[in-house]
Amino acid sequence: MNDEKEMGQVVPMPRIGDQAPKFKAVTTQGDINFPDDYKGRWVILFSHPADFTPVCSSEFITFASMEQQFKDANCDLVGLSVDGLYSHIAWLRTIKEKLSYKGHTNVEVNFPLIEDITMNVAKMYGMIQPGEATTKAVRAVFFIDPKGIIRTMIYYPLSLGRNFDELYRVLQALKTADEFGVATPADWRPGDDVIVSPAGSCGTAKDRMEGKEEGVECQDWFFCSKKLDKNKVLDAIKK
Ligand code: BEZ
Repeated sequence: MNDEKEMGQVVPMPRIGDQAPKFKAVTTQGDINFPDDYKGRWVILFSHPADFTPVCSSEFITFASMEQQFKDANCDLVGLSVDGLYSHIAWLRTIKEKLSYKGHTNVEVNFPLIEDITMNVAKMYGMIQPGEATTKAVRAVFFIDPKGIIRTMIYYPLSLGRNFDELYRVLQALKTADEFGVATPADWRPGDDVIVSPAGSCGTAKDRMEGKEEGVECQDWFFCSKKLDKNKVLDAIKK
């Protein structure tokens, strides 16, 4: 039985497709009302276990260095840990003044970092996973769309630094799926073929298999793909 159940405080885990749980919080960039302040934009809410730790520092340097790339894709970043505001401020100042990682130096973190000393937000988002740690958030990542819906959740353990190129690829793939009504296959990147979902009616499936649906190629009735213009995909990612 998990610890929360034993203590009689079962907090439901958020799920893909749910409305992102709402909260108000204090951050290094002022107060926020989440996710309402981000309506009309994508937002990535992510947690890290603790300030002044090495893996987390390497992650912040990497994510902050990519912030403009995410902004250009209409996506804001919001960090969170169960540390307090003054710890956050001191840690981010130390990162800027003293640390470098993979050639990035003097990195300023300009996105908000939430203080969550009560762990209210961390619990609401299933970031406290007692099998891993009871006093720290795991490395969680939530992709929330412009309507405030959770579209992807990824959880990593404390020891594992995230791959931020993959997080950007997830954002690109979600936006491409929305814009073109397609799915994206394994390791998809803009410019690669996309998956056309299985046809709804027998007639359409037959047309597809016989190559009658323009631009769609089928290896079998359930495995059909098509090309998308890479520039149109890149334009859609900017929206
Ligand atoms: C780190 O960021 O280095 C870290 C944080 C918590 C546990 C283990 C590693």
